[in-house]
Amino acid sequence: MEIYIVLSRENITLPKSEVKAVLESEKIPYQIEKDLNGILIIEIPDNESYIEILGKRLGYVHEIVELLFETDIKNLYSAFEKFKWKDYIKNDYAIRVKKINFSGDIDSQKNERDLGRLVGVNLDDARVNLKNPETYIRVTFTDEKILIGIRKIKIDKKHFFNIKPHKRPFFYPGSMSPKLARCMVNLSRINEGDIILDPFCGTGGILIEAGIIGARVLGVDIDEKMVNGTIKNLRKCKITNYNIVQGDARYIELDGLVDSIVTDPPYGISASTAGEESIKLYRDAIFNMQNLLKTNGHLCLATPHYVDVNQLIRDTKFIIKEKHEIRMHKSLTRIITVLENLN
Ligand SMILES: C[S@@+](CC[C@H](N)C(=O)[O-])C[C@H]1O[C@@H](n2cnc3c(N)ncnc32)[C@H](O)[C@@H]1O
Repeated sequence: MEIYIVLSRENITLPKSEVKAVLESEKIPYQIEKDLNGILIIEIPDNESYIEILGKRLGYVHEIVELLFETDIKNLYSAFEKFKWKDYIKNDYAIRVKKINFSGDIDSQKNERDLGRLVGVNLDDARVNLKNPETYIRVTFTDEKILIGIRKIKIDKKHFFNIKPHKRPFFYPGSMSPKLARCMVNLSRINEGDIILDPFCGTGGILIEAGIIGARVLGVDIDEKMVNGTIKNLRKCKITNYNIVQGDARYIELDGLVDSIVTDPPYGISASTAGEESIKLYRDAIFNMQNLLKTNGHLCLATPHYVDVNQLIRDTKFIIKEKHEIRMHKSLTRIITVLENLN
């Protein structure tokens, strides 16, 4: 089946990479057919559970739509007339128009009404239901083409809103946004049941997102109050499969190897480096991480722009797979790097 995924525009490169990482880690065969600058058209096997998985895991996505057909403005009405709506609409339906990167001038509500009538002509009993339709027909206008499909998933933004750091039982400045944390967890190619480690866990933002998608979470922080705070935050989110301990990221020892590591080490003024100069601390911690992570496992790392990641991984078995930039403010850009462990 063909689907299209409407990406968040909060960042240029992260949303698409997040989609690819989840498809890969969930072993969903896929082919990206087209990238319409914020909308990915993807071919995946005809299996509703794949769409559910994507909906449950992705952070930087707005909606997932099953693509029925594509057309252009000139042929929109005739294509609607010709299409066999009966095969897709059994009870009630609604048509909703959205414009994405569309510079034309159209009246969305008029289109919804007119197209709705054309669909209705082809149906025997089905009724329009604008409030809670069984079939939600999404018509997406872009400059290149118009995509028509059935909306399968609308990503629930409530989760990311309700779980914002200042709403948790334990808050400390420097906590990461839940959406970025989710994206980093996804970029680390983790799956349900896998073990994930955050060696600088702070208030537990990364581990919460990993726990929500079903990973077993391990956290370390040098500061006892962060350790207790992370435990409180995880409990509040009903995450039970965790082990959070006080320790130094440079000297962590584990019984076995972890499947992935996702972390946001301290930098600058707001996060303590416990007296260590940042770069040396990062390098020592990364050296230790390559021995904790399974071979071909991924480390997803957030660093400030002035840290040279190539220098950090020199003489380690890590290789850089991808790199993304997030502009925080005028003088700080965060770099998200995905590394693979060849050790
Ligand atoms: C930037 S914060 C992590 C924020 C976290 N991602 C969150 O959302 O809350 C970095 C954390 O590293 C901890 N830290 C500093 N030096 C450390 C070390 N050597 N080993 C382990 N943790 C350390 C600090 O106590 C701080 O909580």
